Amino acid sequence: MDDQTKPPLRDGPSRRGLFGAFGLAAGALAAPPVAAAPTGSEGHAPVTLSVNGREHRLTLDVRTTLLDALREHMDLTGAKKGCDHGQCGACTVHVDGSRVLSCLTLAISAEGRKVVTIEGLAKDGELHPMQQAFIDHDGFQCGYCTPGQIMSAVACVQEGHAATDDDIREYMSGNLCRCAAYPRIVAAIRQARGQMGAA
Ligand code: FES
Ligand code: FES
Repeated sequence: MDDQTKPPLRDGPSRRGLFGAFGLAAGALAAPPVAAAPTGSEGHAPVTLSVNGREHRLTLDVRTTLLDALREHMDLTGAKKGCDHGQCGACTVHVDGSRVLSCLTLAISAEGRKVVTIEGLAKDGELHPMQQAFIDHDGFQCGYCTPGQIMSAVACVQEGHAATDDDIREYMSGNLCRCAAYPRIVAAIRQARGQMGAA
């Protein structure tokens, strides 16, 4: 009588044989060695950044983002780190008058250019019309997204992309607000648009 408790025998290679064969293949496909991350001063470079009209001489890891350079090396913490992946707009600053996501911008690429952050928007103790408009319209709740919203809104008006509410919504769509202050943000931009003398 057959022994029903034993697993059926199967033809073909044994497990040991298969592992041996795959072990050989895995060795052949092994990833090439990855270069080690620079340590100490290796990979660092002197960088001079002009931010809000002031020169900052720094020595930075060449991989440092503009956002980290601002926040961690210049104590300018107005630009916020929301996602650090270019998806929320909280880190928006101006470089040579254009809005950029500072979390996706290398600090060294901003050398020789003019960087403006939310800290540099007010002039002679007077708030920029966009800052005032956000206050007038309560364009924020927690305020985390607000510096990025305001920097983006100023650029939006200067670009001529704020002629209508639809335009404002479209060209501000890269700035997310988890508090959903969107209607008030649009109202604030509408007010500041008139005061900035642009479209
Ligand atoms: S922190 Fe830069 S886009 Fe979110
Ligand atoms: S005000 Fe809270 S995320 Fe915009």
